[in-house]
Amino acid sequence: MYKKSFHAFQKKYIAENKNSLKMRDYLLKEISIKPDESSILDVGCGSGLDLEFFNHIGFKKIAGIDITGSLVDIARENNPNAEIVHGSFQELEWQDNSFDTVWSKYALQVEKDVDKSIKEISRVIKSGGHAFLQVTHPFRSLALNPSNNYFSEQKIVYTSQDDASQDFIEHHISLTTWIRACISNGFKITNFEEILNKDIKKYSGTITPSAVILILKKI
Ligand SMILES: C[S@@+](CC[C@H](N)C(=O)[O-])C[C@H]1O[C@@H](n2cnc3c(N)ncnc32)[C@H](O)[C@@H]1O
Repeated sequence: MYKKSFHAFQKKYIAENKNSLKMRDYLLKEISIKPDESSILDVGCGSGLDLEFFNHIGFKKIAGIDITGSLVDIARENNPNAEIVHGSFQELEWQDNSFDTVWSKYALQVEKDVDKSIKEISRVIKSGGHAFLQVTHPFRSLALNPSNNYFSEQKIVYTSQDDASQDFIEHHISLTTWIRACISNGFKITNFEEILNKDIKKYSGTITPSAVILILKKI
């Protein structure tokens, strides 16, 4: 589904659309996280562009997991100091309480069972640790959902507006499902934002958010 060319696509996309990197500001502003004393896991790390950022800001231990082998190869090449696993984030191979922080950007909506994914994330975070999750906003996926029903959590397949060679598969997930999964798996929501990936001037017609950012603390 995801191809090797996703690396170049994503690199160009984030260079041109800095808003899509907004979750990095939340990580930098979280004063209780001291990178040089902390561990961080990127769930659905793709080609590892955020792992490079974690290295840049000095995280002591960096790990990632992704299901696409060709992207894992790129991530390993560009992040030789990180532990990068080729596998599914729905079955993390790390032990309970392994990380201070878990990060996931635009990956969790690929799997339908949100509760299972967030339960696994919660399991590997230490008590008092943090999760930073950025997922497709349901208004955006609703526009692609053939059912035209916000409450129908269907699989959607679409071609990127920015690169016709990239097809994506994800699920339309309601805000209720995301928020309940966080709360019922031991998290307190400490911040929440609906963002536009691009500068507002680049949009026309009805403007709806691109993504949801959830900042969580494990109780
Ligand atoms: C849109 S990309 C985002 C990649 C990266 N987080 C970023 O922001 O550049 C989604 C990623 O999720 C990965 N993915 C999808 N389902 C997965 C699963 N069950 N386990 C691990 N990775 C998965 C895909 O291989 C892909 O690399």
